Amino acid sequence: MITGLPQASSDAARIDILFHAMLALSAVVCVGVLVAIVWFGIKYRRGSKADRSGRERRNLGIEATWTLIPLLLFMAIFAWSSKLWADLRTPPANAQPIYVVARQWMWKVQHVGGQREINTLHVPVGHPIRLVMTSQDVIHSFYVPAFRVKQDVLPDRYTTLSFTPTRAGEYELFCAEYCGTQHSVMRGRVVVQPPAIHARWLQSHARQGLASQGAQLYRAMGCSGCHQPGASVHAPDLHGIAGRSIAMADGSTRVADDGYLRDSILLPRKDVVAGYQPIMPSYQGRLDPEDVLALIAYLKRSDPADGPEQPSP
Ligand code: CUA
Repeated sequence: MITGLPQASSDAARIDILFHAMLALSAVVCVGVLVAIVWFGIKYRRGSKADRSGRERRNLGIEATWTLIPLLLFMAIFAWSSKLWADLRTPPANAQPIYVVARQWMWKVQHVGGQREINTLHVPVGHPIRLVMTSQDVIHSFYVPAFRVKQDVLPDRYTTLSFTPTRAGEYELFCAEYCGTQHSVMRGRVVVQPPAIHARWLQSHARQGLASQGAQLYRAMGCSGCHQPGASVHAPDLHGIAGRSIAMADGSTRVADDGYLRDSILLPRKDVVAGYQPIMPSYQGRLDPEDVLALIAYLKRSDPADGPEQPSP
């Protein structure tokens, strides 16, 4: 392997094969062009006795060949890499969500069980992981070379990144987007542990679960006052809202994914639900990104009113 990096995720080998195939193809084209330059340079050098008669203005056969062969090659690479990209962006349904908040200049990680860490990320071997990431300030980029994954982390929206670690060990995590004077020190480690050891790690670092933190906020911030069934204010019931299709006042439909829930809390005028007045105040500036993630984890529980706590799906 040219890069000399371990292949520590389930898709790393596939990405390397694509990379090396493109490198090999580029090398063949590069060598071919160089050889032709040198060959013609020598053959038709000034004063050489090469045959210069019979110049052709056009040769359709040659033109079609040098157009179609590269076209087919590049379309094949396009199809190959699109398939790989689609697979990378489609995590299995059982992928474990982990929440990442980036800021100048650190990575803050929250697990569903409330475990928090800074500049480290503990994950088990062999289990698909889905990171849900946002930034508190500028654009960062979450980059783990050993997994061959990289994803920009943006303020005011969620981006996701999925991978399945395949080898226990510690791997470097970098910020791959220039984000200020200390960008170069914004790095950390991903600690991949055998499942039993990881379970013990989770247990020993468990705190109040994310969804239950969200439940507290839901009451403390006054959400329950309007959104509880039977409240005097006419507000949508949020029972089981996560993942549902919701009709908007403007006739469109939106799926209540993480991004929708976040926008509804921070930018409530953006998407007004059909049949309701835009009376909800914005919580922008009153909740930090971790609070919003906790609220979303709470809304993803089976019963936002008073159900038992469950790891979010
Ligand atoms: Cu964060 Cu560079």
